[in-house]
Amino acid sequence: MDNRPIGFFDSGLGGLTSIPPLRRRLPEEKIIYFGDTARTPYGSKAIRTIKGFSSEIADFLVQSNVKMIVIACNTVSATCVDDLRKRFPQIPILGIIEPTARMVAAECEELNRVGIIGTKVTIASHAYSDMIKEMNPSLNIVETACPAFVPLIEEGIIDNDIMDLTIKYYMDDFVKDNELDTVILGCTHYPLIKKNLERLYPDLKIINPSDIVVNRVEEILAEGDMFADGSDFRNVFYASDLSENFLNMIDHIFEEEADDAKVKFLNFDIENELLKRI
Ligand code: DGL
Repeated sequence: MDNRPIGFFDSGLGGLTSIPPLRRRLPEEKIIYFGDTARTPYGSKAIRTIKGFSSEIADFLVQSNVKMIVIACNTVSATCVDDLRKRFPQIPILGIIEPTARMVAAECEELNRVGIIGTKVTIASHAYSDMIKEMNPSLNIVETACPAFVPLIEEGIIDNDIMDLTIKYYMDDFVKDNELDTVILGCTHYPLIKKNLERLYPDLKIINPSDIVVNRVEEILAEGDMFADGSDFRNVFYASDLSENFLNMIDHIFEEEADDAKVKFLNFDIENELLKRI
């Protein structure tokens, strides 16, 4: 038994899409979430910069006494997992890509045609395709970056023709030319446009890593006998910039949660606080 909280982090609000599935599956678990909203997006930054930011945040979470870290960001998972595991060997560090790659490699077959969409950095890293192909070389996998999705989502432009046109711009030919039957949402912001994708491509199976990562969290807690069994710790959600857009998006992500389960964010002065702690 281990009543310490689980640390989650993302470049911004996308990682919050893993929180409702975690709460439904493991209601006793407590959370410290860090969204680096002041420095988002990571998905088009240099890998060296992303490594620096994620190492600062992981350091903050470790100092906050979390029992495990979930990297709820595909861009960081694609580029920094090994470095973070080396730097913080004392706790399990879970990226969001590995559990999804395992699931796809196990469940998809040669006939399936799988597409991956994500940020420029995630797609250029080939982290998903390399991992899936290593486990199941017979699969047909193609990938494409959709860099305009994140800024539109952050602006709340979702249930809207502009978003639908942007999706079609990136995906119509990608889906048709590759005859895709499955697509992986390789960015934690993309579950927020899942309904658009389902409407535009009703025959496409959509795989959401924000749901799948929760299965692996449960396995790791079981393996280490680390389940919480009830503590007074109150979930804490930090953001390095509490912009109006950000606060609006929280309501969108947590719209199906009961009012008392909704999150309240604390502003975190990243320049001063994180740097002070290193
Ligand atoms: N949430 C990030 C991811 O999953 C994308 C947002 C960003 O570019 O920072 O890759």
